[in-house]
Amino acid sequence: MDLTQFPRVMLGHWPTPLEPMDRLRSHLGAACPKLYVKRDDCTGLATGGNKTRKLEFLMGEAQAEGAQIVVTFGAVQSNHARQTAAAAAKLGLECDLILLDMVHGRGPAYATSGNVLLDKLLGARIHLASPAAAQVTLQSILLKHKAAGRKAYVVPLGGSNSTGALGYVSAYRELGAQCADHNITVSAIVHAVSSGGTQAGLVAGAAFYDHRTRILGVNVSRPVGAGIADNVREIARETLERLEGVPPGLDRRVEVVDGFIGEGYGIPSDAMREAILLAARYEGLILDPVYSGKAFAALLSMVRAEKFGASDTVVFLHTGGNAVLPAYIGELSQ
Ligand SMILES: Cc1ncc(COP(=O)(O)O)c(C=O)c1O
Repeated sequence: MDLTQFPRVMLGHWPTPLEPMDRLRSHLGAACPKLYVKRDDCTGLATGGNKTRKLEFLMGEAQAEGAQIVVTFGAVQSNHARQTAAAAAKLGLECDLILLDMVHGRGPAYATSGNVLLDKLLGARIHLASPAAAQVTLQSILLKHKAAGRKAYVVPLGGSNSTGALGYVSAYRELGAQCADHNITVSAIVHAVSSGGTQAGLVAGAAFYDHRTRILGVNVSRPVGAGIADNVREIARETLERLEGVPPGLDRRVEVVDGFIGEGYGIPSDAMREAILLAARYEGLILDPVYSGKAFAALLSMVRAEKFGASDTVVFLHTGGNAVLPAYIGELSQ
């Protein structure tokens, strides 16, 4: 697989560690599969997370196109926005963040702490908007830059297109090399899915190598995950078209797990709280309430329901997100 054909800037710390979760495994009982965590919360770039991998290719493309400014979107507490702001700062680009009011009924900490504080420290310009006004806000920002003769590059929501997904094709290859070194065959990778680029890249990687590893994306952002699965399929297909072509059976590889979003995107659930406490107290791992906490809750539920065999190996991909914790201080410190 030749990823060197795409423009890329190095932003992260590679490879991220692959660590066994043996204490949690013994706690979960004899039927528990072997559990590992792939530490993409340790990718670097302003506390880390999955966006570093996507941004290496997206920012590479922005630089190749001669952009001076990057513009992107996200929820108010978006990890993607914070990491884009960090990448822009590191590369000497300006950054406009359109932060969308997607999570209602949160307190003042949600609006000012966590990722919002980091966005400000990183020097990004913040534009608050309702989801319905996102495109209008984008157009007015782009017009302003154009009028000033400056080139802006737009990073899609979550960095999820075939360029961003190349980062997770590369992650799949990296994980494959780590597993080969330790003689591990991975039955399934479990992670949080929202805009779909992470899962699309992993699915494209598994399809490229013709591995049977299941890629289980846990829906944390929509009432039902069917629309997410469609996005993932489309991005995975486009990504493979840019690599070596699309192997048969690609669509069947996309599995989105429903049932763990709770009351909605960004709203804490009891299963997420239990997951955060178990990961912290058995493995010293810090998850977040929006993404990795809900994905870990799904992993625990699947293990308890014996959806995997004791001889299987399951990797939890920790996609980061814990910079958001101060925004949830009320719920998590009780
Ligand atoms: C911490 C974290 N985990 C998982 C995801 C989901 O990744 P994707 O948008 O590629 O589906 C995100 C995306 O915003 C995230 O911030």
